[in-house]
Amino acid sequence: MNNRLRIALTKGRLQDKSVQLFEKAGMDCAPIRNPGRRLIHSIPNYPLDAVLSKAPDVITYVEHGACDLGIVGKDTILEKGGSFYEVMDLGFGKCRFALAVKEGADFYGTYKYRTIASKYPNVTKAFFAAKGMDVDIIKIEGSVELAPILNLADGIVDIVETGATLKANGLVPIETVAEVSARLIVNTASMKLYKNEILDFISKCEKELSRS
Ligand code: PRP
Repeated sequence: MNNRLRIALTKGRLQDKSVQLFEKAGMDCAPIRNPGRRLIHSIPNYPLDAVLSKAPDVITYVEHGACDLGIVGKDTILEKGGSFYEVMDLGFGKCRFALAVKEGADFYGTYKYRTIASKYPNVTKAFFAAKGMDVDIIKIEGSVELAPILNLADGIVDIVETGATLKANGLVPIETVAEVSARLIVNTASMKLYKNEILDFISKCEKELSRS
């Protein structure tokens, strides 16, 4: 095994959890822990280079083969889609997509056309299409909870982790849209070209995950 694999990590919380997993598996992640302004870091004692990027870009890099592997949330996978193998649920970064409305609102009890605000228009569209409901979707870039408060939307589809943000803004979740957690994804060509290296990496991760 002499090919170095390249893995794209989602910056932030998933990056921290990924590093914890790699360290438990015996990889020296000091360079990733002290990144400075550098965006690519080599693990000195394992043939792996880590690329730090934003979630949707993790998928782009893996899909195009710029990276062999990636760690990204299922939320981004559901929203962006793409052509790659999703090989493992890493179990961390757990949260859910939920439909939430203003407390006391009767969302389904009206025939009026509904407007939904979300950072995830594709997930929202698929969710309501599966119910045979045609809704108006407004794309919001962040702090989506504002939309119902400002009467821009009847509800939101957003990530809920603890529920604290919804509660603090007078909203309640009324339905789970999808469960979310971090996933390991693999470029389809890399899977064939570097099968042994990738299987070694996967088995190291699996071993640690089964212990925790
Ligand atoms: C996410 C999400 C909610 C919040 C949920 O926002 O959009 O606002 O976290 O977490 P909670 O259930 O634990 O309160 P993020 O911090 O990613 O920022 P954003 O609102 O700008 O997207």
